[in-house]
Amino acid sequence: MSILKRVLVAGLLSAALHAGAAQADESTDAGRHLFERRCQTCHGGTGRADTAMGPSLARLYGRKAGSGDSGVHSRAAIESDTVWTRSSLRRYLSEPGREMPGTLMAVRVREPKELDDLLNFLETLP
Ligand code: HEC
Repeated sequence: MSILKRVLVAGLLSAALHAGAAQADESTDAGRHLFERRCQTCHGGTGRADTAMGPSLARLYGRKAGSGDSGVHSRAAIESDTVWTRSSLRRYLSEPGREMPGTLMAVRVREPKELDDLLNFLETLP
């Protein structure tokens, strides 16, 4: 490969990487806005519950449902075998009552793009 070609390829690769990172940031931002509008009242700012209602959503991934040390947990959540991963969250958030009959979570997120954004945002919570 000529030097010129190498420089061109390197430039294209780096542009593609930057575009990917920018897209991820955009999605996380969209997820944050959605969270502020639809989840924060119960789950608290940045996912840390400052109300007595929803459990904190910080460090959610990998945690068993109903095992957080804040907020209220239903018997349904405590007794479920669900561990929060991207796919279990996707199913739960799109229809909580179907996925976990008896859960106290009533909010549904139906739009796939909104779900992706939310899941990306939740992943950033410390
Ligand atoms: C009206 C209050 C309320 C709102 C609004 C709300 N939640 Fe919840 N959420 C709860 C409650 C209460 C629980 C506990 C459910 C249970 O134990 O059955 C919960 C549980 C959860 C859980 C499982 C937590 C765990 O530790 O097992 C997730 C994930 C979740 N909510 C995400 C969301 C998202 C994302 C939104 C916004 C789209 C949202 N919630 C909006 C009240 C709310």
